[in-house]
Amino acid sequence: MVTVKHDHNDVIKTKNVNFYYSDFKALEDVTMNFERNKVTALIGPSGCGKSTLLRLLNRMNDLIDGTRVEGEVIFEGKNIYAPDVDPVDIRRKIGMVFQKPNPFPKSIFNNIIYGPRLSGIKTKEALGELVEQSLRQASLWDEVKDILGQSAMMLSGGQQQRICIARALAMKPEILLMDEPTSALDPISTAKIEELIEELKRDYTIIIVTHNMQQAARISDYTGFFYLGKLIEYNPTEKLFTNPDVSQTEDYITGRFG
Ligand SMILES: Nc1ncnc2c1ncn2[C@@H]1O[C@H](COP(=O)(O)OP(=O)(O)O)[C@@H](O)[C@H]1O
Ligand SMILES: [Mg+2]
Repeated sequence: MVTVKHDHNDVIKTKNVNFYYSDFKALEDVTMNFERNKVTALIGPSGCGKSTLLRLLNRMNDLIDGTRVEGEVIFEGKNIYAPDVDPVDIRRKIGMVFQKPNPFPKSIFNNIIYGPRLSGIKTKEALGELVEQSLRQASLWDEVKDILGQSAMMLSGGQQQRICIARALAMKPEILLMDEPTSALDPISTAKIEELIEELKRDYTIIIVTHNMQQAARISDYTGFFYLGKLIEYNPTEKLFTNPDVSQTEDYITGRFG
């Protein structure tokens, strides 16, 4: 059994999830719980299913043809794959940040308000406040407050990634999913995002995929190790990296394969 005992509430959990791309089974019997206000890292060799699991948690895989889910993903006491659940609503509550910064080719201001405006926030005051609050939370406000009308595409890669984080936060999500959010960034921008993740966990639950084991060790509270679509070991991060329960985990973290 690989479920971790959490002291507090789980925000989201998967129950016996199998996931298929057409005939290919990419996840096998994954049962995994994620604790509120913690950072959980997903690690494992390329192709082991980390991104698939992340996209499964906010129904992003629905956008890929031929995919199929078995089992349940419980969020707010309900299976998010139940027929009456609106995937758009799920994606609003469970935001996502991708590997390559992907701001819209719009102004900084309009990047942040794009989602909130679609979901009905209309007044200039409310939108302005949301922009400041989201950019402050993403540690970007001081750098961009005087250039909010300029294109987000003008910013550095690290700033663009923080725009994407601010854009996700502007939807006031419960959970932030991050898929290798620093792998396209330089070391200084990476350090800034890692610091930011540390701060954000006060208000959000963060689930991060990283191929960088040092990063997982630095920033996460819990780590899950995946291999060939299976959750092999799930433990507090310090335990997993210093005294893993499973020999396969040890082989991976000591660099014997991967
Ligand atoms: N859109 C897709 N269509 C078909 N197979 C996919 C798709 N995306 C991923 N896969 C396959 O699913 C497996 C898991 O992929 P992925 O979740 O991207 O792994 P990771 O993020 O750990 O590198 C891999 O074998 C990959 O080739
Ligand atoms: Mg991936």
